[in-house]
Amino acid sequence: MGSNFGPADEVSNPLGPSLTGPSSIQPFALDQAASPNGVTRRGLLKGGIGAAMSGLFRPGVADARSAFRPGSLGFEGVAVSTADQVIVPRGYSVQVLYSWGDATGIATGVAADTVAFSASNTALEQTLQAGMHHDGMHFFPLGRGNHGLLVINHEYTDDGLLHVDGMKTWTPEKVRKAQAAHGVSVIEIERLKSGNWQVIRPSKYARRITSYTPMRLSGPAAGEARMRTAGDPEGRTVLGTLNNCAHGHTPWGTYLTCEENWNAYFHGRKDAGLNEARYGVKPNGFGYRWHEHDERFDVVKHPNEQHRFGWVVEFDPFNPNDTPVKRTALGRIKHEGALMTTAQDGRAVVYMGDDERFEYIYKFISRDRVRPGGYVKNQEILDHGTLYAARLDDSGAGAWLELMFGKNGLTAANGFTSQADVLIRTRQAADQAGATRMDRPEWIALHPSTGEMFVSLTNNTERGQPGKPGVDRANPRAQNALGQIVRWREQGDAAAMTFRWSQFVLAGDPAASDAALRGTVKGDAFGSPDGLMVDARGLLWIQTDIASTVMGKGANASLGNNQMLAADPLSGEVRRFLVGPRGCELTGIVMSADMRSLFVNIQHPGEPPAERNEPDQPTAVSSWPQAPGIDRPRSSTIVITRDDGGVIGT
Ligand code: FEO
Ligand code: CA
Ligand code: CA
Repeated sequence: MGSNFGPADEVSNPLGPSLTGPSSIQPFALDQAASPNGVTRRGLLKGGIGAAMSGLFRPGVADARSAFRPGSLGFEGVAVSTADQVIVPRGYSVQVLYSWGDATGIATGVAADTVAFSASNTALEQTLQAGMHHDGMHFFPLGRGNHGLLVINHEYTDDGLLHVDGMKTWTPEKVRKAQAAHGVSVIEIERLKSGNWQVIRPSKYARRITSYTPMRLSGPAAGEARMRTAGDPEGRTVLGTLNNCAHGHTPWGTYLTCEENWNAYFHGRKDAGLNEARYGVKPNGFGYRWHEHDERFDVVKHPNEQHRFGWVVEFDPFNPNDTPVKRTALGRIKHEGALMTTAQDGRAVVYMGDDERFEYIYKFISRDRVRPGGYVKNQEILDHGTLYAARLDDSGAGAWLELMFGKNGLTAANGFTSQADVLIRTRQAADQAGATRMDRPEWIALHPSTGEMFVSLTNNTERGQPGKPGVDRANPRAQNALGQIVRWREQGDAAAMTFRWSQFVLAGDPAASDAALRGTVKGDAFGSPDGLMVDARGLLWIQTDIASTVMGKGANASLGNNQMLAADPLSGEVRRFLVGPRGCELTGIVMSADMRSLFVNIQHPGEPPAERNEPDQPTAVSSWPQAPGIDRPRSSTIVITRDDGGVIGT
């Protein structure tokens, strides 16, 4: 089986942005960009999404479940729902801003906003459009608060929707399109006098980073023998980023995009080595079939390519020519996000979760202090420092365990060979050091005034099963289908080596008759917390990700579609703010500086229990954000505003 676009082809492949970035993409003719039925994006907005919105987005009606009134939460809660619509509180409105297939505004030499969405879009067109499955994102202001760059991760694809006939035939072009639908979007947006936001097209900032964008590897593991491949004998460059889940941003103005389930794309060996097995690399991965036409993803042929994924990737969103850098000092795990703060002495501190059952929470502390002067003065700060894994004791005490070669059992006697080895096998290093096996660590959030930290532990139905770890106080429920949010305070500043922790909430339905399903929620029912953000005034926002396989079933029977809630960290009150359309997950959240616009991502609306759509029934579960029957569902960034122009959530 030959590769049609292996690394050697990359520079000359017209689909592959070179190191100079998207400006090297050749303009293409208008007729290539038009969809088969001739409907332009503007036409679709007028007749499709625009018309549909007025009917789809209406305020929800509070019921007994959301009758929770006292405290600091200043909105009327909405009811659970299984409707195919976005429901927000009375007095709020929703605008769809940026959907899969929308033009990014990359200047191509032709009017960039005529790249109309269609399932028949080519791989080349997909490189100029929003990817699929929007996830973590951040807003970077440009001068004034109502103008800036929105940077959005595209986590994975539903190939049943991505191609007209799904995966029924499988071609190099389809693999390339799937790779182009992964990665990151950078779009320039502004708020109009009308109050609506718009994507500015064309924009000199607009960019798509994909699964074949050239990147650098840096830090202690760069160049190590296991990082070297046939396409990169030095082990210092790599094509692309994968499964970009949550994110982070730095005080020096860069964006961090985090590689989560990267193992899913690799076709592994039946007799997988111990390292491959620890990271879940196995035959057929998750069925993406990239290896059939891009042999980089065939572990038998290229055993080291897998080591070049599982990292945090940094780039400058303001420079579309910036080469992204994989920062190996932050460890190789299934990264959820990378929440950054600074210690009192100015060192950078990054908190990270590894989202798999029984995996760990990590923190990185830089060797050097953050310097004024932006990225140019902090180019290498994430290359030098120390990685730690968290131990949460049943006493409520916690400790950060140093993952440094030669310490905490990370020695030659235990099979470790160098700091690069410790980082390439971060999970095994944390095993050796004795970190606490958690219930799938997802997002981490920091309260801006109290310094309190929150981590969502989304669920773990294997907790307490035969042969698996049992319960502890941080992960207190066996067969945990609903998840919890743990909070902690460092004993000192962010560079402290110890902390104190407690449960913030065990998710569940307070009305459930089964105590195991009730949890400790004071307010509105929810399950599987995932996205977290503490806003500037200290409100904790919670986004849920009940898997499509179990939505509406078992412990999730009363919870409806995935949702977003706000919680008061002081009182523990939780109130439901939004319910998403059918089959979606809520993920990605950021507010404008004036707190009057809330950006949220609706990921994979219409995902069926099989987690992949059937191409001949693409709207069976949902057609959101289109009206029913118009077109296939599309992951989207939405903007929520208050009709009176006020601050969100007060
Ligand atoms: Fe991509 Fe763990 O969520
Ligand atoms: Ca997540
Ligand atoms: Ca999740």
